Amino acid sequence: MAIKIDGKAIAAAVRQEVRAEAEELTRQGMTPGLAVIVVGDDPASRVYVNNKKKACAEAGIRSEEFALPADTTQEQLLAVVEELNAREDIHGILCQLPLPKHLDDKAVIAAISPKKDVDAFHAANVGQILIGDYTFLPCTPAGVMELLHRTDIAVEGKQCVVIGRSNIVGKPMAMLLLHENATVTICHSRTKNLEEICRQADVLVAAVGRAGFVTPDMVKPGAVVVDVGINRGADGKLCGDVDPAVDEVAGYLTPVPGGVGPMTIAMLLKNTITAARSLMK
Ligand code: GUN
Repeated sequence: MAIKIDGKAIAAAVRQEVRAEAEELTRQGMTPGLAVIVVGDDPASRVYVNNKKKACAEAGIRSEEFALPADTTQEQLLAVVEELNAREDIHGILCQLPLPKHLDDKAVIAAISPKKDVDAFHAANVGQILIGDYTFLPCTPAGVMELLHRTDIAVEGKQCVVIGRSNIVGKPMAMLLLHENATVTICHSRTKNLEEICRQADVLVAAVGRAGFVTPDMVKPGAVVVDVGINRGADGKLCGDVDPAVDEVAGYLTPVPGGVGPMTIAMLLKNTITAARSLMK
């Protein structure tokens, strides 16, 4: 049986540290403030936004929700972003994705001030990450690195395989592993011999979005397996990208739920503190 990496416990530790920092900033007269924009009524987005607001309240971060109707125009949405860019009591801005189809998410991300871009989706922040000189890291890959650090798993010199090449997870994940001197391979839907490449991984990160995609025959015995997937199984239950039977082969495994998921919000809180501190200077 693999050792489970307890994301809930590690996220709780991060959140406690964030709370102490938020209290310190409040003492200095600058309570960190996060604006959360959500457009329309996507049920998954609703759950995520409520979780983010609750986590802010527990960490001593002031959050403000901007719930806009599904028929909001691009101009109206950009006007909200501009207003928030200008507000001194708002340090972080996030626009929950996906947006309704008639809206251009790229233009919205580009409009958010890079200094307040706590998702680290803006091209300026993505570029900073690429050159290894960054203020913010995107929450999910940063959460994975935090799980590895706090489990004393070093990636230096190791074979790390990331399955998935999204801008939000796969690509920045590969970059963060590279910054820590891992040898990194990115696999995707067109990769040939995917199983064979995965089997060589000392650290395997699955960010595919397909339930049970990583099967035991794809895992090197003793490998660290990080499951970024959040899928609904046929039974309606939450499940990851990793087949539960991988537990018999892996050395370490992040469970779903309770692995990477809780870390994403913890890192958002951390980014909000970072934003407040850097805007203070
Ligand atoms: N939708 C799913 N994940 C995310 C995220 O990390 N940030 C935002 N803004 N929207 C999301």
